Amino acid sequence: MRSHATTLAAAALWGLGSLGAALAGPVEDTLTVTTDAGEITLVTTAPAPEHLRDVFDTIYSGWHFREDETRDLERDDFDNPGMVFVDRGRDMWNAEIGANGESCASCHGGPESMKGLRAVTPRVDPESGKLMLVEDYINECVTERMGREAWGMTSNEMKDMLALISLQSRGEIVNVAIDGPARPFWEKGRELYYTRFGQLEMSCANCHEDNWGNFIRADHLSQGQVNGFPTYRLKDAGMVTAQQRFVGCVRDTRAETFKAGSDEFKALELYVASRGNGLAVEGVSVRH
Ligand code: HEC
Ligand code: HEC
Repeated sequence: MRSHATTLAAAALWGLGSLGAALAGPVEDTLTVTTDAGEITLVTTAPAPEHLRDVFDTIYSGWHFREDETRDLERDDFDNPGMVFVDRGRDMWNAEIGANGESCASCHGGPESMKGLRAVTPRVDPESGKLMLVEDYINECVTERMGREAWGMTSNEMKDMLALISLQSRGEIVNVAIDGPARPFWEKGRELYYTRFGQLEMSCANCHEDNWGNFIRADHLSQGQVNGFPTYRLKDAGMVTAQQRFVGCVRDTRAETFKAGSDEFKALELYVASRGNGLAVEGVSVRH
């Protein structure tokens, strides 16, 4: 049993007054997106993956916890404000930015060549044994194959490219590996997930596992899934990566946080992604 008293104290601080009382479940709804290529229905709820069975029966995309207007923005690419960033990513993909005039396209062809990648990352690169986010793969090419300085983990170039690449896997089912060489990273991520941070002494699990469905101030708490990332966040009027979201959530517990792209947060992203094995990649989602 986790300490209930501490959680309650933190909950009071946070305005999570209704612990257990006013549980408002996920909104029942189906996410069908109108795209240039027709309609696609995304899997936004699924049976919990094996390793989570003692915690959840069902996993839900964060989309189910948002208000009607926010959910609607994701139903049509024309309305989705994240698509502007995808377009910028496409321009960058074709731009001859390499030291010898290479573009991403000159080696990879169209961005469709990246189909599937987002559904299986973070993953351990078989050659280097390193845990790789999509961002790490991008930077490997930017530095080693194009002779340029690495892009900042949360720079605009990086987020635009991440949006473009993620969109290629829209609709594919998240299936990150958690065994074999991924296991130690996954275990490290899981440990972090249950570690209490900050003055509020709250772990990811205190909010997203123990209190999902509850309201925290005006916010409907989701299971904290990353299948929707990167996401267009209305509050920030810009793209937010999973790594950035982690920084924000830890900061909200009034703790010092790890950096985006740190080994800790990379391991955490693998673990959190694995809690969503079975949900569809949303490509570029919209959140409040
Ligand atoms: C000089 C050729 C070259 C250029 C230019 C290049 N790449 Fe790559 N890229 C590769 C090779 C080779 C690999 C590793 C083998 C593979 O997966 O295709 C790779 C791998 C990747 C991967 C991992 C793909 C996977 O399925 O594992 C991503 C993502 C990627 N590149 C993105 C980019 C982006 C974005 C750009 C432009 C900013 C870029 N690359 C520019 C050659 C290049
Ligand atoms: C004090 C409560 C709290 C803690 C602790 C917390 N979060 Fe959050 N988190 C929120 C709130 C509130 C939101 C926005 C509403 C939502 O989607 O749940 C959010 C959103 C998220 C989202 C976005 C989900 C989506 O679909 O948009 C992710 C991912 C996430 N959190 C992961 C984490 C991780 C990982 C940790 C631990 C490092 C963590 N959170 C700790 C409160 C918390």
